[in-house]
Amino acid sequence: MTRFFYIILFLFVIIFFIITFLFPISKSKAQIGKEIFINKGKCASCHTLSDASSHSNIGPNLDYIKTTKSRVKIAVMEGAGAMKSLEDVLSKVEIEAVAEYVYQATKK
Ligand code: HEC
Repeated sequence: MTRFFYIILFLFVIIFFIITFLFPISKSKAQIGKEIFINKGKCASCHTLSDASSHSNIGPNLDYIKTTKSRVKIAVMEGAGAMKSLEDVLSKVEIEAVAEYVYQATKK
């Protein structure tokens, strides 16, 4: 009887690990970047990006530029034309996340 109990317990532990592996609670960098794109960074107020459902023509349409992570980072840190530097608004980690997101969302 106790052996049966241990087998059940063992199965529960295995199932628990499979679930935590398949549905991690922590968000990916790109997901965090998407939130920054829409909210804190206000990128969506100037840029069109279909993945973020934004439609604004103040800045270039990001759907059409094939960009790299470092180019997005430079644009956000140093600004580009009418786009002001967001270095004071976003932390290094947030800039990294938003760059990862824009890169992921535009690379197709
Ligand atoms: C005030 C409006 C505005 C906001 C807010 C803004 N941008 Fe821009 N962005 C622009 C404009 C205008 C340009 C074009 C600058 C130029 O090339 O003259 C640009 C250019 C860019 C480019 C292209 C740079 C290149 O290398 O060609 C990227 C990438 C970019 N923005 C990403 C972002 C991201 C990510 C955010 C949010 C963190 C953001 N922008 C917020 C207006 C904005």
